[in-house]
Amino acid sequence: MRKYLLGFAAGIVVVLLVGFSYVRFGFVNSCADMPVNSMESMMAMPALDASVARRAPEVPNPVSPTDDNLVAGMKIYQANCATCHGDVHRPEAMLADALYPRAPQFVDDAPDMPENQNFYIIQHGVRLSGMPAWGQTLNAQQMWQVTTFLSHMDKLPPQVSDAWKTAAGGPAGSSSPAATPTMDMHGMNMGGKKMNMQ
Ligand code: HEC
Repeated sequence: MRKYLLGFAAGIVVVLLVGFSYVRFGFVNSCADMPVNSMESMMAMPALDASVARRAPEVPNPVSPTDDNLVAGMKIYQANCATCHGDVHRPEAMLADALYPRAPQFVDDAPDMPENQNFYIIQHGVRLSGMPAWGQTLNAQQMWQVTTFLSHMDKLPPQVSDAWKTAAGGPAGSSSPAATPTMDMHGMNMGGKKMNMQ
C-alpha cells in the first residue's frame, strides 16, 4: 500500500513538472494573432464566468436607463471601448481579431451577464486578456453608465441610437475623421470628477 501511494505521488509530481516545463520553457505559443485554441476557451470562459460570479458584489445598478444616462454611457463606450468591442457602424471592431482571447463583439452579441457582473469586469478588467481595469480611469458613476448602455445596447431608444450613429462617425470605410475608432486616452474621464461609490 505504501509503495502504491509513493508511486501515485511520484506520478503526480512528474505530471506537474511536465506541465510546468511545457509552460515555462516556451512551448506555449504567446502570439495573439492566431486561432483561439478550443481547449483553452473551453477552460477559460467558464473559469472567468465562475470567478466573476463568485466575486462580484450583489449590488443593484444605481443608474436608471434614462436617455441622458444612456447617451453618457454611449459616449464613454465610444471613446474607450469601441476599438475592441465594436460600434454601431463597425460591429466587427478594429481589434476584433487582434486579441487573444478575442474581445466579444457586443453589437452582434450583447453582453447577457447580470449588470453587477459586467460592472465588476469593467472595474477590475480581466487578467491575461486585453480587457483593461477601468476603475483606474473612470469613476463609479461612469462605469455604471457604460454598464447600463451595454445592457440596453440591443434595445436603445431611437434618440440614443441616433446619437450613437453620429458619435461613431460615418459608416466603416467612409472618409469622416471619426470613422476610425481610436483609443481616446484624454476623453477617458469625460470631464467627470472621480466619485467613490464603494
Ligand atoms: C484593448 C481592448 C479592450 C478594450 C479597450 C476594452 N475591452 Fe472589454 N474586453 C476585452 C477582451 C479581450 C475581453 C474578453 C476577456 C476574456 O474573455 O477573457 C473583454 C471583455 C469584456 C467584458 C466581459 C464580456 C463577457 O461576456 O464576458 C465586458 C463587460 C467588457 N469587456 C466591457 C468593456 C467596456 C465597457 C470597455 C470600455 C470602458 C471595454 N470593455 C474596453 C478587450 C477590451
